[in-house]
Amino acid sequence: MKALVTGANKGIGFEIARNLGKRGYDILVGARDEARGPAAVEKLAAEGISAAFIKIDLNDLASLHTAAKMIDSLDILVNNAGIPDSLKPGRAALDITKHTFDYTTEDLRTTMETNFLGTHELTKNLLSRLTDTGKIVNITVPISPTEFWHPLAYITSKAALNVMTLTYAYEFEKMGSHRQIFGIMPGAVATDLNGMEAGAHSGFVKSLEAAGRMCTDIILSDKNQNGQMIQYDGKTVTDYEIQLRG
Ligand SMILES: NC(=O)c1ccc[n+]([C@@H]2O[C@H](COP(=O)([O-])OP(=O)(O)OC[C@H]3O[C@@H](n4cnc5c(N)ncnc54)[C@H](OP(=O)(O)O)[C@@H]3O)[C@@H](O)[C@H]2O)c1
Repeated sequence: MKALVTGANKGIGFEIARNLGKRGYDILVGARDEARGPAAVEKLAAEGISAAFIKIDLNDLASLHTAAKMIDSLDILVNNAGIPDSLKPGRAALDITKHTFDYTTEDLRTTMETNFLGTHELTKNLLSRLTDTGKIVNITVPISPTEFWHPLAYITSKAALNVMTLTYAYEFEKMGSHRQIFGIMPGAVATDLNGMEAGAHSGFVKSLEAAGRMCTDIILSDKNQNGQMIQYDGKTVTDYEIQLRG
């Protein structure tokens, strides 16, 4: 059994790769950097996990086409790689204080290209490699604005990803396919993306290890999760996407 995890060189992607590897999957470590990707493979191999590097740069469509051609069969695709939309001054972490009206078209374009367009291109090119019971997993976020959570470009790109999840799921169901596509919303996890510390905000922020285990349990569930958005506590989200679901 084989799983490709994008952005698997660090963060949530690395932990999902690690947990899937421990549970018997051969791991393709999708990463854009030709040093960071193989370094992650070495770390996994040191834990006895079967892993190989595959170059996946969501901003380079040619790399996605090449990657798809190198894969003959795939049981699980985890679309994890992603970027925040705007960075805190001096730090490569999401700035959720940026005002909605300060977003530029360039902010939207960059975030959309990585989080949605590149992910869509990869997924579409891998469809023919996905086994009959294969799973596509999109790592995503809630898209409804709240007082503390409304980073315009980031949630716009994830909204597009969520629509892709629902639309592909609809097609799988219509075809009578046993393939599944679903979203996982891991909640707040301490990573470079947000610069948060595990346990911060009254313990609300999860550690990477906890997030990796939680995502992997959801991915490997025996339940049919096609078209679902599943949050960190395992519950299926029915309110965030209600308008999209009609
Ligand atoms: N952290 C959270 O609280 C949280 C919550 C909900 C959802 N998520 C989602 O979880 C996913 C992983 O985020 P994270 O928190 O683990 O962030 P992270 O530690 O910053 O990891 C992001 C990963 O994506 C890769 N990446 C970025 N741009 C890429 C591109 N153009 N092509 C290929 N790979 C690219 C990064 O590679 P480099 O090392 O080369 O930059 C890195 O491996 C994201 O989709 C994020 O939206 C995170």
